[in-house]
Parts: sequence; structure tokens; C-alpha cells
Amino acid sequence: MIGRDANVNSRRCRFSAAKVVSLCRARDREIEHATGRKAMEPLMRLNRLSLAAAVTIIALGNMVPLHAQDALPAPDPAIASMSPDELVTTRENKMKENGGILRSAAGLTGAAAEEAATTLLQNYVDFIPLFDQRSQSALTNSALPIAWEDWAGFSALFEQSQQAALAMKTAAGAGDQAGYVKAVETLGGLCGQCHGKYRL
Ligand code: HEC
Repeated sequence: MIGRDANVNSRRCRFSAAKVVSLCRARDREIEHATGRKAMEPLMRLNRLSLAAAVTIIALGNMVPLHAQDALPAPDPAIASMSPDELVTTRENKMKENGGILRSAAGLTGAAAEEAATTLLQNYVDFIPLFDQRSQSALTNSALPIAWEDWAGFSALFEQSQQAALAMKTAAGAGDQAGYVKAVETLGGLCGQCHGKYRL
């Protein structure tokens, strides 16, 4: 016969990790005595609990955005219907805008620094659709054919620039001026890397 205390313990054994080993021993002895069968080892019970905890953590991890990629804005939807000439003009204007921002970006702080990073980030997200294949037919196109032949290498430089702009934004928001300036320098270094290989 299993006593009242053992039943209380049985509930705790299921619901309280901290008490598993000490409280459950008493219950196990009673259960073993009453049934003649051996109860589950406390260690195994703990393993089951840690497995349940691990499953919960993994499930939560899938719900919470963990990767910086998730923080990227969407590209401007107007790009999808632009003509080849419009694609080139728009990307040239954005390149020039970025150049202007970069000239003074390192000296910015607080909200101004965050705003600069936000504009850069949006432009770097937009560049990928702005270099759509169809823009090659525009007379003003100044990207080399290798940009499309080696699209993985070309677009990777835009993706690295996105991550640098994101790092600028995060650091500026956190008041981390050294981190912000470092990200500005990373971003600035990528201009020449790309122009040297993919631009006329
Ligand atoms: C991944 C490649 C890539 C990166 C990174 C890049 N550019 Fe460019 N940039 C190009 C290409 C390609 C063109 C030519 C676009 C066209 O005219 O078709 C260009 C054109 C330009 C132009 C000329 C625009 C015009 O009016 O003709 C400027 C200015 C410029 N980039 C500045 C920058 C600056 C500043 C950076 C860094 C902050 C940068 N670019 C980063 C590829 C890149």
C-alpha cells in the first residue's frame, strides 16, 4: 500500500526538478515495497528532465530571432517594376548617397549615427535587386559582366556590407562608439574591394 506522503512525493517527483533525487527516494522505496518492481533510477529521471529542458530551449530558440539576418529590412518593392535605365540610375544615386554618408559617418554619434546606418543598410539591401540581370541592357550600366558571371562573389560583398551597416546600427544604439567606428571602417573597406573587380 502506497502511503499519502508517497503520493504527494509522486506529484513532486513529476513536477519539481530540485526535489527529484531527495524526495523521490522515499517514494521509490514505498513503490518498490508495494509492487515488488524497481522504480526508475533518480539519475535517469534527471536525464529525462534535462532532455525535456533541452527540447524546450530548442523550441524557444526557433521562435526567437537569433541570427542578425532576421533584422534586415525588405528591399524597396518599387524595384521589381523598374526599367533597366531606372535600375542603373537608382543604384548610382544610392552609391553616391552612401559615399556622402561615409565621408562623415565616423564622426556621428547617437540618433544621427543610427540614422546614417539605417540608410546605408536599406541601400545595401536594395543593391541586390537593383543589379538584376536585366539592368545589363542599359547603356549607362557600369558594372562589368563578371558581376553576373560571379554573382556569388559580387553579392557576398553586398551581404558583408549589410552586416557591417547592421553592426553600425546596433553599436550606435548601444552607445558603443568604438564598435560603431570599427563597423564604419569595415564598410568603407568593402567599396574598393568591389569596385576593383566588378566595376568598369
Ligand atoms: C559589391 C559591389 C560594390 C560595393 C560594395 C560598392 N560598390 Fe559602388 N559601385 C558598384 C558598381 C558595380 C558600380 C557601377 C554601377 C553602375 O553605374 O551601373 C558602382 C558605382 C559607384 C559610384 C558611381 C555612381 C555613379 O554616379 O555612376 C559611386 C560613387 C560608388 N559606387 C560609391 C561606393 C561607395 C562609397 C561604396 C562603399 C561605401 C561602394 N560604392 C560600395 C559596386 C559596388
